[in-house]
Amino acid sequence: MLRLAQTLDSQLRSAMERAFPEAGAARLDPQLAPASKPEFGDFQANGALPLAKPLGQPPRQIAQAIVAQLQADPGFQELCLDPQIAGPGFINLTLRPERLAAEVAARLGDSRLGVPQATDGDEPVLVDFSSPNIAKEMHVGHLRSTIIGDALARVLEFRGHPVLRLNHVGDWGTQFGMLITHLKQVAPEALEHPDAVDLGDLVAFYRQAKARFDEDEAFQTTAREEVVKLQGGDSESLKAWQLLCDQSRREFQKIYDRLDIRLSERGESFYNPYLQAVVDDLKAAGLLVVDDGAGCVFLEGVQGKDGRPLPLIVQKSDGGFNYATTDLAAIRWRFAAPPEGDGATRVIYVTDAGQASHFAGVFQVARRAGWIPEGCRVEHVPFGLVQGEDGKKLKTRAGDTVRLRDLLDEAVERAEADLRRRLGEEERQESEDFIQHVATTMGLAAVKYADLSTNRITNYQFSFDRMLALSGNTAPYLLYAVVRIAGIARKGGDLTGSDAAADSLQFSEPQEWALIRELLKFDGVIAEVEEELLPNRLCSYLFELSQVFNRFYDQVPVLKAEGPARGSRLALCRLTAETLKLGLGLLGIPTLERM
Ligand code: ARG
Repeated sequence: MLRLAQTLDSQLRSAMERAFPEAGAARLDPQLAPASKPEFGDFQANGALPLAKPLGQPPRQIAQAIVAQLQADPGFQELCLDPQIAGPGFINLTLRPERLAAEVAARLGDSRLGVPQATDGDEPVLVDFSSPNIAKEMHVGHLRSTIIGDALARVLEFRGHPVLRLNHVGDWGTQFGMLITHLKQVAPEALEHPDAVDLGDLVAFYRQAKARFDEDEAFQTTAREEVVKLQGGDSESLKAWQLLCDQSRREFQKIYDRLDIRLSERGESFYNPYLQAVVDDLKAAGLLVVDDGAGCVFLEGVQGKDGRPLPLIVQKSDGGFNYATTDLAAIRWRFAAPPEGDGATRVIYVTDAGQASHFAGVFQVARRAGWIPEGCRVEHVPFGLVQGEDGKKLKTRAGDTVRLRDLLDEAVERAEADLRRRLGEEERQESEDFIQHVATTMGLAAVKYADLSTNRITNYQFSFDRMLALSGNTAPYLLYAVVRIAGIARKGGDLTGSDAAADSLQFSEPQEWALIRELLKFDGVIAEVEEELLPNRLCSYLFELSQVFNRFYDQVPVLKAEGPARGSRLALCRLTAETLKLGLGLLGIPTLERM
């Protein structure tokens, strides 16, 4: 529909210019928008209203003059029925049914379903997501980042951008001092034979190391010395560090494999060699202020409680660098031209909303330092907390933090129990393979979809019951719509042969037109997600589409229809299935043929 809207927009513009040449083209904006109600047609143009004052005419009269010009345009006549003027001077526009049918026909032969291929260059878009911390737990916040970041990356890739999916893992920092010290003491053999030792639960290992660090002064001293050794490139220390990173990586990878997530790791340590230069360059640019021994850049427009500007600290008073220094080095690298950089034109960070001020500070300093080239975009994509059904932080019954592995297992187990119950009720026999496949797909889809379908900015209440329900805006409901259409094919509706030519498509029922209009919104929704980075828009659309489809299929005969109507309706079924499959695929959710 985007292309049609563009055509319509330029037709309106030139109609306005012809009607009011004296107004000046710059002032003439059709203000074209989707119709606010289906009975108003497809679009409305509100551009007559703001012209009333400058032209000194009643807005309805202006609208009439625009409509008269539209009617004199054969291109417009081909596209729309007669425009209607409503209220104070809105112009309601309805596309001709044959044009809508032609759009349906075009989509049936188009694997991109009307979504244009981006043509604005080969520069990568960079998505920084997931990014857990080595030797620490990958928690539900990282899960959100992983799921949302992956969906955004998929949409951007589908649009044709080269996407760099970067895992900015926390693989550096003073915590490695205590981790390595602990490792050397409890499992010295690990350094010689890394495969011989399974540190198992690294989270527990981290806790032990931390406990010792907190209570044992000698341990603390050794740990501090260990940090210095590591930073100095001591080979033993590096080996131990590598070992810890590898162990963590293996654990993270299990989660990524289950969720079908592709990521390239480029952790914080990658930027170590560039940290000093960041500080030096900020100094040379006159942005660095030493305050209380610490290297700071004072932020413009950001004040603390005392009314003084807040600093972004880039070098601690002991000379060490921090999270912000690393992010400055990273942002600089990401925008810089290759080979000493990624040459990205858009950089997107997916983290919890708690880091919003960190990123605002980093972005501001990078911009003032001149590291973000003209025309390039940098965006923080924040999301809210994951809460339990009680509205508090998500915890296990015993009060511990929830391990991701357990959370995914439970989703799949519950999906399996639901499925077995349903099969029992329907007296269906299915193979064990089928049950495992469906339960795994459903369980993981439910977790992903529940996260993606809420507006990411708000906190999100995690509920297995809600996400696995067969009704409502859930993955099972959408997967079921796809299954239903696959069932039509099994019952003899030939969906594959339905790439009908425009003139063989015939539609008559309001439910058909409603479905067509919904189907044609797909390209607009993708454009919106690409721009606003809100996957829930795509979810709401797919949910709406499934509902409109179900209404159509419940109320209009398809398999029992005859003549051109049957083929036309089957074509709508096929286009619906393809739209749902593609849309869910962009959310990282595979579909099923049966369930
Ligand atoms: N490791 C961080 C955390 O667990 C997230 C990193 C996000 N990316 C970045 N460039 N700072 O909170």
